[in-house]
Amino acid sequence: MASYDVIVIGAGPGGYVAAIRCAQLGLKTACVEGRATLGGTCLNVGCIPSKAMLHASHMLHEAEHNFAKMGLKGKSPSVDFKQMLAYKDEVIEGNTKGIEFLFKKNKVDWLKGWGSIPATGQVKVGEEVHTAKNIIVATGSEVATLPGVEIDEKIVVSSTGALELPKVPKKMVVIGAGVIGLELGSVYKRLGSEVTVIEFLDKVTPGMDGEVQKTVQRMLTKQGMEFIMGAAVQSVDASKTKAKVTYKLRKDDSEATIDADVVLVATGRKPFTDGLGLADLGVEMTDRGQVKTNDHWQTNVKGIYAIGDAITGPMLAHKAEDEGMACAEVIAGKHGHVNYGVIPGVIYTHPEVASVGKTEEQLKEEGTAYKVGKFSFMGNARAKAVHAGEGFVKLLADKETDRILGAHIIGPAAGDLIHEICVGMEFGASAEDIALTCHAHPTFSEAVREAALACGDGAIHA
Ligand code: NAI
Repeated sequence: MASYDVIVIGAGPGGYVAAIRCAQLGLKTACVEGRATLGGTCLNVGCIPSKAMLHASHMLHEAEHNFAKMGLKGKSPSVDFKQMLAYKDEVIEGNTKGIEFLFKKNKVDWLKGWGSIPATGQVKVGEEVHTAKNIIVATGSEVATLPGVEIDEKIVVSSTGALELPKVPKKMVVIGAGVIGLELGSVYKRLGSEVTVIEFLDKVTPGMDGEVQKTVQRMLTKQGMEFIMGAAVQSVDASKTKAKVTYKLRKDDSEATIDADVVLVATGRKPFTDGLGLADLGVEMTDRGQVKTNDHWQTNVKGIYAIGDAITGPMLAHKAEDEGMACAEVIAGKHGHVNYGVIPGVIYTHPEVASVGKTEEQLKEEGTAYKVGKFSFMGNARAKAVHAGEGFVKLLADKETDRILGAHIIGPAAGDLIHEICVGMEFGASAEDIALTCHAHPTFSEAVREAALACGDGAIHA
């Protein structure tokens, strides 16, 4: 048994960042993690491994579609899927070991095992009970499946099973055209699977700007992905080798079925707080199973805090990280800060999709007068030079004040380009501020500047 200032439960991006920051601020800190490696869903079975697979499959796509155009002739590479998975595992190991190193460097104790809170000020791990002045619940989320759909992680898989398939399936059906469905669906499409996405709504990527939604779907369709929209999956019948998916079209209630070798269930995630003992402690939850917190990530029980996917807000690693740092600062008596209006969202398809701030639909609904500055990557010399002219940058600014309200990008490195706008928004920048900033030539970033120019007197290369 040991005594700590802070015990963080969960070592995902929220938890490990909170623990490191607590230690940096002089607090004696431990972090509880039951997985064999640190890093949570993101590093072990989420963001990081999927990025390795997206990278490898994109390289194959480039070899098959763009190499010859650039005078790089020869046979396209064939897929050694086992080796690709080994590469992915190596990437995971490099990252999870990195967190272990950071824990040692910052003197954060890793309490190995699954934690629970038997009483305020106590955390139980295995048979040991440790005391802590402050406890941060950072237990993340788990897959939310559908009624009538049982995940076996072999034929009917979640994102976790999709990263461990024994071979590239001939036919994959993806349920849900959200972030996971589109990212992993596009990996398998590029590796040679026939991929059909079934989506309940009429648009892909719920919550994104409408114009972006249409463009993403069009681009992925062009890459060979098929979409069945406005269709609610009713059930999945799986045998040892195949599955049959039954869905109902919302427009006329007609039912249809589709066969698959693998079905990927990507219909969202839900907070994971099982076994913590929160109900016995009287910790208040929302009706969606999230831990209720105030503006300082405190629950209604003194000394218990919560962050990340376990609480309200977007289920994103970087949102959890920001909350982890801010919560640590609050515990240390400082002022933690998270600007929920400026949290970027990125979809790592090819091309990438990135978004921050308000969508046009939201601005219309609010009745805010706005202007749009749009610039196509076709007018960007660097994008054209690398066969990446598809997509656009769309900047939304206040019609009166020119203050940036949102940005939506589809195109090369969109996930990096968006941060220029995030920083601008943090500083209350106007579109003109971006337009007046010199941008190096030739870079993809020039497209962001051109969109800003388009909010004023006009883009140059449009
Ligand atoms: P999601 O919430 O993004 O999308 C789920 C989709 O499934 C929705 O479009 C929904 O309409 C559809 N759906 C629900 N029930 C259905 C049914 N019966 N039939 C057909 N379609 C149905 O969830 P997703 O993609 O599973 O991701 C989970 C979480 O993980 C999200 O919060 C996401 O933000 C996060 N994530 C973020 C990533 C990133 O930032 N790049 C990558 C992967 C996950």
